[in-house]
Amino acid sequence: MEETENSTDIQIDLNTFGKPTVISDECALTIFRVAQEAIRNAVKHSGASQTSIILKCTSDDISFCVMDNGCGFDMKLVEKNSISHFGLLGMQERVRLVGGNLTVTSKISKGTTVSLSIPFKNAQEQVVTGLSIKE
Ligand SMILES: Nc1ncnc2c1ncn2[C@@H]1O[C@H](COP(=O)(O)OP(=O)(O)OP(=O)(O)O)[C@@H](O)[C@H]1O
Ligand SMILES: [Mg+2]
Repeated sequence: MEETENSTDIQIDLNTFGKPTVISDECALTIFRVAQEAIRNAVKHSGASQTSIILKCTSDDISFCVMDNGCGFDMKLVEKNSISHFGLLGMQERVRLVGGNLTVTSKISKGTTVSLSIPFKNAQEQVVTGLSIKE
């Protein structure tokens, strides 16, 4: 985050709510990768001046969203051309594998929000290629 802020004109705000908690390595890596791709997309495509990141931990779930105030995009057009774009598809797949949910909403001229939530129970389980290992 700091590196991106220093090397671009975009300002990144991070807000966290809830207590730090122990989650599986897979879940932590998923959150990191989704954040990384969402920020990369905001820098590369949105022309936004600002990106806000909110990370929330409750007893129900871990949720995370990255919002930018940039140009936005038409999801339908992007879905049609998804053959050469793997970022959004990769995020969906990663989140699905840890039993979470990812939504991307975008409005032309308003910006884009990438939100993910992972039920707390799933966030603590180790997952190996889609199979949960319950200890
Ligand atoms: N935050 C954003 N603001 C504006 N447009 C976006 C944003 N995120 C994604 N897009 C649009 O959606 C398209 C698909 O994004 P995706 O991350 O899947 O692919 P990519 O960034 O073009 O390529 P890749 O991630 O595979 O290097 C982008 O090409 C861009 O047109
Ligand atoms: Mg991308």
